[in-house]
This record gives sequence, structure tokens and C-alpha cells, in this order.
Amino acid sequence: MTPNDHLGDIATRFLSRRALLKGAVAAAALSATPFGALTANPARAQSASSLTFSELPAAPKNDPNHYIAPGYRADILISWGDPVLPGAPAFDPAHQTAATQAAQFGFNCDFIGYLPLGDGASAVPQHLASRNSAHGLLGVNHEATKAHMMFTGFADSDAARDGATAERVAVERASLGFSVIEVKRDNGAWGIVAGSPFARRISAETPIAITGPARGHARMKTAADPAGETVIGTFENCSGGTTPWGTYLTCEENIQNRFACKTADMDAAYAREVASAESFQVRTSNTWPKFDARFDMNATPHEFNRFGWVVEIDPYDPQSVPKKRTALGRFRHEAATIVAKDGKPVTAYLADDQTLEFFYKFVSARAYVGADPAANIDILDAGTLYVAQFKDDGTGAWLPLVHGEGLLTSENGFNDQGDVVIDARRAARLIGATETDRPEGAETDPITSRTYVAFTGGTDRKEPGPAMPRAPNQRGHIVEILSPGTDGDRDHAATTFTWDILLLAGNPHAEIASKGVYGPGTSEAGFFAYPDNIVFDPQGRLWIATDGGRQIGIADGLWACCVTGPERATTRHFYASPTGAEVTGPCFTPDGETLFVSIQHPGDQTDSSFDNPTTRWPAALDSTMPPRPSVIVVTREGGGPIGS
Ligand code: FEO
Ligand code: CA
Ligand code: CA
Ligand code: CA
Repeated sequence: MTPNDHLGDIATRFLSRRALLKGAVAAAALSATPFGALTANPARAQSASSLTFSELPAAPKNDPNHYIAPGYRADILISWGDPVLPGAPAFDPAHQTAATQAAQFGFNCDFIGYLPLGDGASAVPQHLASRNSAHGLLGVNHEATKAHMMFTGFADSDAARDGATAERVAVERASLGFSVIEVKRDNGAWGIVAGSPFARRISAETPIAITGPARGHARMKTAADPAGETVIGTFENCSGGTTPWGTYLTCEENIQNRFACKTADMDAAYAREVASAESFQVRTSNTWPKFDARFDMNATPHEFNRFGWVVEIDPYDPQSVPKKRTALGRFRHEAATIVAKDGKPVTAYLADDQTLEFFYKFVSARAYVGADPAANIDILDAGTLYVAQFKDDGTGAWLPLVHGEGLLTSENGFNDQGDVVIDARRAARLIGATETDRPEGAETDPITSRTYVAFTGGTDRKEPGPAMPRAPNQRGHIVEILSPGTDGDRDHAATTFTWDILLLAGNPHAEIASKGVYGPGTSEAGFFAYPDNIVFDPQGRLWIATDGGRQIGIADGLWACCVTGPERATTRHFYASPTGAEVTGPCFTPDGETLFVSIQHPGDQTDSSFDNPTTRWPAALDSTMPPRPSVIVVTREGGGPIGS
């Protein structure tokens, strides 16, 4: 079968199933199709979509403003440079210092997690049980710096790189990492609680404990940390997750952008570190190593191993030391989303956002204790890391990454579990993991317990593969993973699964290689490209944020769809971002009446800079302010659940 036959076959089967669903065919008939595991939820199959908002029209791609569906509000909650810590100064873009930035909201916000604060409560269980949707903590990632958008005097990113100074790099390091802010809704309006004891900035300068199998490992030791137990900083924090025991997971993604490595000059003793640098595509031109030898792999070969992890933060204890949970493996971490059920192991779904890398999950050794959050606080330190193997017949297997099992032995360079997690990608490839097209969002439907993974697209793919039907994958797609069981009761610890394709992203009028395929009735505004972060609302509707739509002439934004019933995968356009931005981190309050969203790098595009931006969003165009990455808060005029 040629790649095109394969693609045509996938598309035909996919489209024919769509036709069947359109007629609301009974589940029994569907089960005879190749994608038969995908039966409509009987409870919803006969009803129309529960999403009732009026769609936005297709958005112009170079509009300096943002747009929300009629009947909704999108207000600015917090922007880059706004005060976070008590006493922080107001933002002054002309006079940024590391000290001011360390107390202010960081740059390029991404993942957002909401954890409730029960009014009057003092204990974590009471806060969590309150499910308070009007008062809580927001944990927000700060992913990347864009120096030509942060500082005056640079026409573009190359000029900014060449003009780097130690002082400026110090500001960048303070602008990365994570913010915790206390938020409250009063008389319908959300605001930041000034002077909150929970307010926190965690950055590239914050000490972080190393836990799990790589703690104290020889390849984690450096001259500055001979024990291999504490690392300074977390950065490139992209997506993440919120745990039901009241913590945040923040994921270190593009760590290769901070290190430099001349692999030809590396000492032969560090062959594995060279291979790691090559796998992550570390360059030689990054700015930090010019000012700090810690980020020069030739000078400090092990430092790189201390990044690329999932970091857990307990925001209810502002004094707590964040922990790098090395049992979850080391790669370009994107999503880390938890499925937990009382008395069962905890599962974390983990995405590696690099072309032709893999999709993982971690299953804890211990059982989750719902009644006692503190009992779960270190549950991610012991368990089994698995990697997904998708098969052409719609099934799949989770392959364990366990030292001593199969090929993961010292003959292949894996002397212990620390080696396995540090080189998780090499281990995964060795045991037969399926190469994928940049998984970013991964979420489990709270109603059906089906899991969805957004593959944002991968242009390096030469041939289609199982669950990856397009080569190259120009627009991305969303895959549905069914753990064994029935809707609402699925075993996320199991080592088998079945899969299907929820939708193929792209313009539905495009040629087959980049054609979008959605549910019935998707409008001309309802299609998108490059799905990135995804989230479920409390009613089990999927919300999709995009990163890259501007490349095909549509602003990045938010779309929503049902995942079961006759309008499965019928996506609707809800929000359009300002020019140059991507949309990240969508997060609902427990009642589904508030949606927080990060708008990252507004105005970042060709011929745009701090001094001459294409938008000054969220400020007015004639302002002296540069465009500022910001968290917006979306509510419905008059109140009520978002989307319906
Ligand atoms: Fe930082 Fe994969 O997005
Ligand atoms: Ca980004
Ligand atoms: Ca992303
Ligand atoms: Ca992305």
C-alpha cells in the first residue's frame, strides 16, 4: 500500500463513519465499521449539540484586536509585568530589571490551572472540597522569552540574540517559570487579590528538588550540586496539569533553546549526553551559555540532564519546594494530565512535543486516596512509565519503560532506572514506540473517561503510520484513545487500548493531504489548524486552542465541539486572538462559568518588534506599551455555563 493509498483509505473510512453518524445510526451498526469502538454515547446520541453559542465569523488573520462569540465577555485579568508579589512595582517596560521581573507576572503565559480557595477554610481538603468557582488560585506557566518583543532596540530576534547582555539575560531568566496568583470574583468581575500570602513566582532562579529515580544519579551530579538532588530553576514551562490532590504540574519543554553544545568537541565520556543534545536539537547559538557556563554542555555536561522534567508545585503551601518528578521521564514535556479514581493507581498522560517523538503515560505504584490529599503528595515518584505503541488495526499497547525488562539493560546503556528516565526517548524508540506528530494537549473526558490527544502536526513525517494518517502532517489532528471498559468507567492503568481519529484539522476545502475532516455541519468559521492545548468543560465538551492557524490565514483561537452524539467533532469558533498570538492554557472553573485563557506572544510575527509592533494588545494601538502576553477571563453576559 502506498502512503497515498493509506491516506485515502483512512480518509474514506473516516468520512464514511461520519456519514453513518449523521444518520444517527444505532451503535450496533457502527460496531461493524473499522472504527466501531467509537459508538455514540447513547445518552446524548439523540440530542443535538449542547453547545448553543453563536459562532464567530471566520476571523481576519492580521487584526490587532481579539474577538469573542456574541453574548460573552473576554476581559484582561493579568498581563506580563503586572505585580504578583506584595510590593512589586507597576510594569515599566523601559526600565526592566531582574529584580522587578522576579516579582511581576512573567512573559509568554501558557498553561493555566485553577485550584479553589474555600472561603474561611484553612486546610487543603476543605479548599478542594469547596469547589469554589468564585475564589481560587491560578497557576500559570511562563514558557519562552522573545527578546525582540521584550526589549527596545532590536528589529528582530536575530538582532536581539546578537545584542544580548548579562543584565538582559537576567531579566529573561526571571520572566520564565511559573506564577501563582489569588483570584476572586466580586459582583461578577474577576480580579487579582493584592498582597495574597499565596502569591508566588518560580523562575529559572528558584531551587527545585529532584525526586524519583534520577535523584542523586551520577548523570544528575554537577560541581555545583555534587549530590544531584537540587537544581536551580525551571524554564520553558509550556503546558502542564492540575492534580486532584491540589498541586500543579508544570512541564519543561523547549530546554534545547537555553543550552549550547558543540557535540564534536564533547569529551567521549559524555557520549550519552551528546546523543541527548542531538535528540533535543540543542544549538550552539543560544544566549545563556555566553553568560553562564552552566548552560554550556561542553563545560557542564550534566546540567542538561537536569531539565526536561515535569515539576510539581504545591500552591497551598507557599513555602513548599517545587519537585522535579523524574519518574515521569525526560523529554520535551507538554501536557501532564491526571486521571485519578479513589483506590486505583493514578495515571498521568504525558506528551513529547517534538516531531517523530512519542506519547507516554505514567501509572503510579500507589493507589489514590481521594479523602486525604496529603497522602498523594509524592505519589508521582514511584510507578511505571509507559510509551504508546499504536497499531494499524485500531488497537494499541502501552510498553513499559522499566530497567532490566526487555532491551532496557546495561548491554544497551541502561544501567538503572535513572538512565531509563533520563534517556526516555532512546528507551522508547528501542522498545518499539510509535513515532508521532508532536502531541501537545492530552485530556480525558470527565463524562466518558475517553482520552484525547492533540497532535499539532509534524512536517518531518515521510510515511503515514498508525494513528498518524498524513505524511507530512501539515495541519495536525486529534486522536481518541479508549482505555478498556465502558464510557464513564475505564481502566487507565491497563496496558492495552483502542484508538480512533476524532478529526483531521485543516481547511475542509483543501486537497486531501491537508484537508480538514470534521463532524457534520461544521461551518466555514468552524475549521482550524494546528490543535495545541485542549480542555474539557464540566459537561464534557472539548475546547481546542490553536497555535499556527495564522500560517493558513486564520487567527489562532478557540473552538469547541461535542465528542459524542450526532455532532461529534462538529467544531464551532468561539474566540479569535490578536495578530501574532497563539492561544494556550484554556482552563475552566469547576462550575464551567468562567474560562481562563493565556494569549501568548501577541504581535510576534515578521516585521514586528517591541518598538514597532503590529499590535499593542491589550493596550490601545496608540499606547507606548508593547504588546503584552496576558491571561484573559471569559464569562457569559448575565452568567451561566460557557458554551451553552
Ligand atoms: Fe510550547 Fe509545544 O508548545
Ligand atoms: Ca508557545
Ligand atoms: Ca503548546
Ligand atoms: Ca504549539
